[in-house]
Amino acid sequence: MKSVQFEPINSRIQVNTNTNILEAILAEELDVLMACGGKGMCATCHVHVETGQQSLTPRTEREQRTLGRITGCNTQSRLACQARVIGEGVVIRLPDGMYIERAEDLMKYLGTRAGSNVLHPIDGSVLIEKGKIITKSRIRDLESLRECYGKLRTANTTRSY
Ligand code: FES
Repeated sequence: MKSVQFEPINSRIQVNTNTNILEAILAEELDVLMACGGKGMCATCHVHVETGQQSLTPRTEREQRTLGRITGCNTQSRLACQARVIGEGVVIRLPDGMYIERAEDLMKYLGTRAGSNVLHPIDGSVLIEKGKIITKSRIRDLESLRECYGKLRTANTTRSY
């Protein structure tokens, strides 16, 4: 067993060696969109490793490629679905934002201020900043998200690595 700490929620969990971080996040019943189904092709499980990089399996080629197109990626970045825990001292910083699949997902927040940044599921860019009012026109501007997300789903079902 290995321990993994999640910030900023200050939660620690014990996992079996070789468990990936995504499984650990789900075990904590935290919400993850998993737009690509855990295949290392989207931004929705992007996390930052505060400490313990050496206690995780190294980045794969696919992970490296996907991280290369994610906004906010840095040397601490990992895709939770690709990083397996092999040692102690792992501290993970969860993203400050909410990923969405389709513009319609925002309809229930219409007229309210975004409680956190609204993030693009593929590249992680900020679509609506925290505190901004979610308007109909802003939601309309994001309609291309559905097509973008559809392409990811198609790639996910037809591509094999
Ligand atoms: S769930 Fe898509 S990259 Fe991890």
